[in-house]
Amino acid sequence: MKKLYKRPLRLAVYGKGGIGKSFVSANLSVLFAKDRRVIHVGCDPKGDSTRNLTAQNPPEPALGKLLDCAAPPESVSDLVRQGIRGVDCVEAGGPEPGEGCGGMGILKLFQFLTRTGFFKESDYQVQLFDVLGDVVCGGFVAPMRFAAPLTILVVVSEEVHSLFAANQVAKAVRRYADSGVSLAGLVLNRRDNLARVDHVGRFAEALGTTVIADLLRTPEVFDADVARKPVVVQEPTGLLAIEFHLLTERLREFEPEGSGTVTPLDSATFDALMFEAARP
Ligand SMILES: Nc1ncnc2c1ncn2[C@@H]1O[C@H](COP(=O)(O)OP(=O)(O)OP(=O)(O)O)[C@@H](O)[C@H]1O
Ligand SMILES: [Mg+2]
Repeated sequence: MKKLYKRPLRLAVYGKGGIGKSFVSANLSVLFAKDRRVIHVGCDPKGDSTRNLTAQNPPEPALGKLLDCAAPPESVSDLVRQGIRGVDCVEAGGPEPGEGCGGMGILKLFQFLTRTGFFKESDYQVQLFDVLGDVVCGGFVAPMRFAAPLTILVVVSEEVHSLFAANQVAKAVRRYADSGVSLAGLVLNRRDNLARVDHVGRFAEALGTTVIADLLRTPEVFDADVARKPVVVQEPTGLLAIEFHLLTERLREFEPEGSGTVTPLDSATFDALMFEAARP
């Protein structure tokens, strides 16, 4: 039976470079596509967000099309390639290495989406933005600036620097909270399955949020990357698939109004929390 949805879900996935944002994003997009119309937007000049969704049919970077004065795109459909399980995919793209700011493609894409009314009206019930890891890039803040109301997920591991980056993202969430940007939680994507993780829960609590998913590091992800498929497609009954299903359910239930105030930690409090977590 098809579920009824309260409102479209506009989701942005943030986190430190290399932490697993594109991995989490691609798996969420295919699961949401079971019963909703989904657009997955790679907001990263590397252009690798949709790699596992579009093995047969990769999208051209939007930036090239947006700079084409002879035949500029008219609507988002001119930028979309259909991926696995019907997920519509867009890659912002960016300038060639050495030729300009990495955030340019993302900014131009969000300006285009705003200009064409995409954020006011769209057929997509899920709009997912997989955002680059660099917290001071202009492209980093574009989803918060242009696409509110917006729900944020931050991918972390048990490692201190990933939590430090999450604290920086929380500062941006607080800055844009009045425009309707809210934090749904931290996705713990474990680097080491045997490592202690209690400090991640305590950090989440101090931020005013929760650990909304707990993903193990598994070799199946490598196999899925080789096959260019999300792991939930490659291993639909595996442990990761179960956890991703739970995460989609939690996101369906997420109420931004009830999510409370995000309280980023000052640096002394952050250091003290990490110090407590250190081995004796
Ligand atoms: N739970 C996991 N188990 C095994 N491998 C994983 C897991 N999560 C991520 N990886 C692998 O780690 C690498 C980095 O993941 P990914 O590209 O999703 O990170 P990212 O945050 O999007 O990086 P970037 O900041 O460069 O965009 C990939 O090879 C991915 O397959
Ligand atoms: Mg990525």
